[in-house]
Amino acid sequence: MERTFIMIKPDGVQRNLVGEVIKRLEAKGFTLVGLKMMSVSHELAEKHYDVHKERPFFKGLVEFITSGPVVATVWEGEGVVASSRKIIGATNPLAAEPGTIRGDYGISIGRNLIHGSDAIETAQREIDLWFKDEELVSWEPSIKSWLYEEN
Ligand code: RTP
Ligand code: MG
Repeated sequence: MERTFIMIKPDGVQRNLVGEVIKRLEAKGFTLVGLKMMSVSHELAEKHYDVHKERPFFKGLVEFITSGPVVATVWEGEGVVASSRKIIGATNPLAAEPGTIRGDYGISIGRNLIHGSDAIETAQREIDLWFKDEELVSWEPSIKSWLYEEN
């Protein structure tokens, strides 16, 4: 089953939006298979945002992500990578649609509350980067037949 990496950034934690984010993904029907609160090292932040290392905002982004605790999560479900990106909304919260997390709660691009993997391959790379195998829990939700037509 498809998995994605979703991180509530330091601003999301400070704004008390951890529960709100988890609530929305759970309510959609996705399955939480990994969850931890942590401080992010510079090394991990730089690896995570490696694709942006030449961009002018890279240094500030790494400083921000390492500035306070984050909540790292892994979610499972059919189409979870693309669907969770829709639930998160556009990168710039002012451009993000109302009803999305960034659209409902954010204003600035550098304070957009949450990270979500942008493709299936990126998701695998990010899950491997942030979680050890034994930190992920595979479990079968008892409501599965109410979410999926076939099991
Ligand atoms: P994320 O990776 O955090 O889920 O966000 P995203 O895919 O929507 O956006 P991405 O292009 O990957 O950018 C990563 C993060 O960098 C910050 N950013 N700042 N100042 C700027 O122009 C700028 N552009 C991007 C944002 O915090 C964005 O989430
Ligand atoms: Mg991105």
